[in-house]
Amino acid sequence: MIRKAVIPAAGLGTRFLPATKSMPKEMLPIIDKPIIQFVVEEAITSGIEDIIIITGRGKRAIEDYFDTSPELETHLLQNEKYELLREVKDLSSLADIHYIRQKEPRGLGDAVLKAEKHVGDEPFAVLLGDDIIKAEIPCIKQLTNLFAKYNRTIIAVEEVSKEKISDYGIIKGKEIGESTYLVEDIIEKPSLEEAPSSMGTVGRYVLTPEIFDCIKETPPGKGDEIQLTDAIRMLIEEAGVYGYAFDGKRYDAGDKAGYVKAIIDFALERADLKDDVRRYLEGLV
Ligand code: UTP
Repeated sequence: MIRKAVIPAAGLGTRFLPATKSMPKEMLPIIDKPIIQFVVEEAITSGIEDIIIITGRGKRAIEDYFDTSPELETHLLQNEKYELLREVKDLSSLADIHYIRQKEPRGLGDAVLKAEKHVGDEPFAVLLGDDIIKAEIPCIKQLTNLFAKYNRTIIAVEEVSKEKISDYGIIKGKEIGESTYLVEDIIEKPSLEEAPSSMGTVGRYVLTPEIFDCIKETPPGKGDEIQLTDAIRMLIEEAGVYGYAFDGKRYDAGDKAGYVKAIIDFALERADLKDDVRRYLEGLV
């Protein structure tokens, strides 16, 4: 049973500069919902209620977002905007959210390590806001279901195109069941020649607590950052790691084109927007 989720959100978001100079990348909206809310909701609908968000300098907006907002609530009430009032109030009661600061963005591995005390000696989920995943069964739930079978670290993987291989952690794996791989190696951002396959890790993991010691032993890697991928590589020998090619559609919201695609697809699904947006897109092509 996975009870806790860690959502690292302390990165600098350089790919979205200048917007992210003074606002967290995780608060960029997909229409009217910030990316991080999709991630928090995925954890909650997967049955996880204890959420740890790793934040850093300039990330106050995330804490304010999930907090109560008395002035706004009074304003909405006075103006009889009851539907919006309900939405705003729901946000502050979504889950039990804790915040831990990463003083410097030293890498995703380091960010996850900051949650060690809160997580303790139990398996936990990690969800990155860079990936928004639309799926019938939430992606992290698919991983926790598989965890129940193997009791080992499970990482979500997806086929990535040749041009994108050097942006991902790439696994070498043996297919041992439907969509399930026993991971034999994993390399962070390999060149096309180095890549052992085209299966890339995406931002969903169920990790066993041995990962914390592995991170502590992991030296800075690509980009001089402490890479979670490098720590997972250590875990392969120590405890075993499985990859799972999840069911669902993933949007790489940390990438500009992926972000735009997510906005278009979500708009085309909304009753209040779809006709207008579809007409507009049809007019363009
Ligand atoms: P990314 O490398 O995609 O995020 O890390 P980034 O560094 O913010 O973005 P770019 O590449 O500069 O545009 C994936 C996730 O890990 C978090 C980020 O906030 C993001 O959600 N992260 C990364 C941390 O929490 N701490 C870090 O030191 C690095």
